[in-house]
Amino acid sequence: MPSLAIQGMQWGDEGKGKITDYFASHADLVVRTQGGNNAGHSIEHQGKRYALRLLPSGVFQPHVVNVIADGVVVNPAALLEEMDLLESEGISSFHLLLSSRASILMPYHIALDAAREQALGNAKIGTTGRGIGPCYEDRASRVGLRLGDLLVESYLKERLSEALAIKNRELAAFGAKTYTVEELLAWLEPARKRLSSYIIDTSEYLSHALEEGKKVLFEGAQGAMLCLTHGTYPYVTSSSPLCTAIPLNAGLPLTAVNHAIGITKVYCTRVGAGPFPSEIEGELAQKIRDAGHEYGTVTKRPRRIGWLDIPELRYVHRITGVKDSALMLLDVLGSVDEIRLCTGYTLHGKAIDTMPSTIPEVSEIVPTYLSMPSWKGDISHCKTYEELPLEARNYIEKVEELSGLSFVIISVGADRDATIVRKDIF
Ligand code: IMO
Ligand code: MG
Repeated sequence: MPSLAIQGMQWGDEGKGKITDYFASHADLVVRTQGGNNAGHSIEHQGKRYALRLLPSGVFQPHVVNVIADGVVVNPAALLEEMDLLESEGISSFHLLLSSRASILMPYHIALDAAREQALGNAKIGTTGRGIGPCYEDRASRVGLRLGDLLVESYLKERLSEALAIKNRELAAFGAKTYTVEELLAWLEPARKRLSSYIIDTSEYLSHALEEGKKVLFEGAQGAMLCLTHGTYPYVTSSSPLCTAIPLNAGLPLTAVNHAIGITKVYCTRVGAGPFPSEIEGELAQKIRDAGHEYGTVTKRPRRIGWLDIPELRYVHRITGVKDSALMLLDVLGSVDEIRLCTGYTLHGKAIDTMPSTIPEVSEIVPTYLSMPSWKGDISHCKTYEELPLEARNYIEKVEELSGLSFVIISVGADRDATIVRKDIF
């Protein structure tokens, strides 16, 4: 397959970083198409753990061209900080291209993210606080700046003053600090100096690369249930993490995405607010949280924990078409005595077969569970499917049967080697 998309199947933090890194060694290009530094992709490289936010996960492979495509929102200061951090670790020879159509995330977006959350009080979304929503709002309301604007100084100045005519009123209404054009031009100066040479029409570049038969990996950020349109709105992010949005977000035809692999974690997590049908609380949740290191990569917040949710997976399977998937963090469930699996939803006394489209409905779901015995023990040494304990294989096969997914990769530990590959798809 010349191109492959990585699809988070739940509420983000499924382990996309590890699988993207695994496939990146077979890829010519690794492309981010949406989101921004709200993403946190953990990767182990030469015994060290890195948390990438904006940079595509191909940066550890010197042969890979890393592309930040049109649909991404880029905080240039955060990008430079990430690049400097890698450089200080001796990782500086990576190739990077930035789309001239990608949005620039400005300091006032971060201020507005905080101000809005505060104004919402108990109804807050629990965002990552990185300004992602306000930046996408400006894109949609056409007062946003784009990376390409950095290339012509007079135009950049013009766009900034147009934006500030609106943004300063909003900031003042919230009692937040307002900005001058000069001050923001100064803030953008390091980016203009250091990033300009990477900024190109990535849509055109990617079209040529695909025509030449280059292998392209589309690195997903967030998860399907955080989709602005198809997730648990309003408790979602402000872009679409669905693989079906990739062609639009990269300026490519429908045929550009040949295949997608889902990334499914063996339990669910969610950071931030919003309904979560299979949520578990108390001691058991804490046990899984600790065993799975379920604390935010970006914000360090403890993640909410839930059992694997089959109706949720079936919903994502239906709206994305994803069938092949990686099953992540299987080793973590070796730490509990009994594993539960959410196999169905009941709403107002009736069984339902989909994720409802409104919050009042999702909040009132009563999940049905199936209990299965755990294998209770360490499986991180298992190199083949057959080596897995019978209880683990029974669990995997049950999930495959009920969800319609095929687990082509099974991750049994954080290390690159702790990965069982059942089918070669890229
Ligand atoms: P990766 O790529 C988990 C969540 C936030 C919040 C909601 C809106 O690491 O899987 P935002 O700052 O985007 O406006 O926040 O979306 N969220 C994520 N949760 N993993 C992510 O990315 C996320 N990106 C956003 O916690 O609930
Ligand atoms: Mg995350």
